[in-house]
Amino acid sequence: MSTQPPVIPKPFTVLDCQSARAQGRKIVVVTAYDYPTAQMLDEAGIDIQLVGDSLGMVVQGHPHSLTVTLDEMIYHTKMVARAARRSMVVTDMPFMSYQISPQQALENAGRIIQEGGAHAVKLEGGVRTAAAIAAITAADIPVMGHVGLTPQSIHAFGGFKVQRDEDRLLADAQAVVEAGAFAMVVEGVPAELGARITAGVPIPTIGIGAGAGCDGQVLVFHDLFQYGLGRRPKFVKSYANLGQSIMEGTKSFINEVRQGTFPDAGHAYSS
Ligand code: KIV
Repeated sequence: MSTQPPVIPKPFTVLDCQSARAQGRKIVVVTAYDYPTAQMLDEAGIDIQLVGDSLGMVVQGHPHSLTVTLDEMIYHTKMVARAARRSMVVTDMPFMSYQISPQQALENAGRIIQEGGAHAVKLEGGVRTAAAIAAITAADIPVMGHVGLTPQSIHAFGGFKVQRDEDRLLADAQAVVEAGAFAMVVEGVPAELGARITAGVPIPTIGIGAGAGCDGQVLVFHDLFQYGLGRRPKFVKSYANLGQSIMEGTKSFINEVRQGTFPDAGHAYSS
């Protein structure tokens, strides 16, 4: 009988994020909201699992992420963190969990790390959230910034609109860097601007709808694998169609139960 200890994979950390950028190795990020998904993403070799507040849309069925609560983010983070052996777990701070004061932001970031088990938190905004990012990083909690089309700002932006104000976006990116973030998501900007932001900052950028010039890419799990029946944004490329498989499987199950062909003898206990 073998007494070999289990092989513990080396976890991906903020240092690996930096060295990936330095070596030109792209950082791969996917959102995760539950244990089995996180287990598969981890096993497949994803660098970072993002517990995104996009769960408000793709898991809860809301039209936006603004209704998601801190307790809900912690609940989902626990499931993902339990499964992550190699990947880094980053959790979104939901709307109104960091806007009131840097003190509030730090307390809530602390809950995500302590109760949820995340390795880092993500905050939207640049100039306007720099003080919150600085307070959190001062407590040695790693922060991922998020600039460009920040979904928590959709009412201010007038919808999910591509952001093109170069001066504002470069100022936001700079503010995120100066506040101490280790990386930043760049969302919904023209590809040339995504590349310009990346060239102008010393930390890795993770693009979503921001072109190929970023240091890494993130997609929402449900878009990546067509899980659910909603429409997908233009920038999404899907690598599997889970929705179709589930629909076809469900129809086959319905037919077999109604026709009495399931369960057959092979799927029943004998006396
Ligand atoms: O909430 C989320 O899933 C995100 C990604 C889309 C970057 O913030």
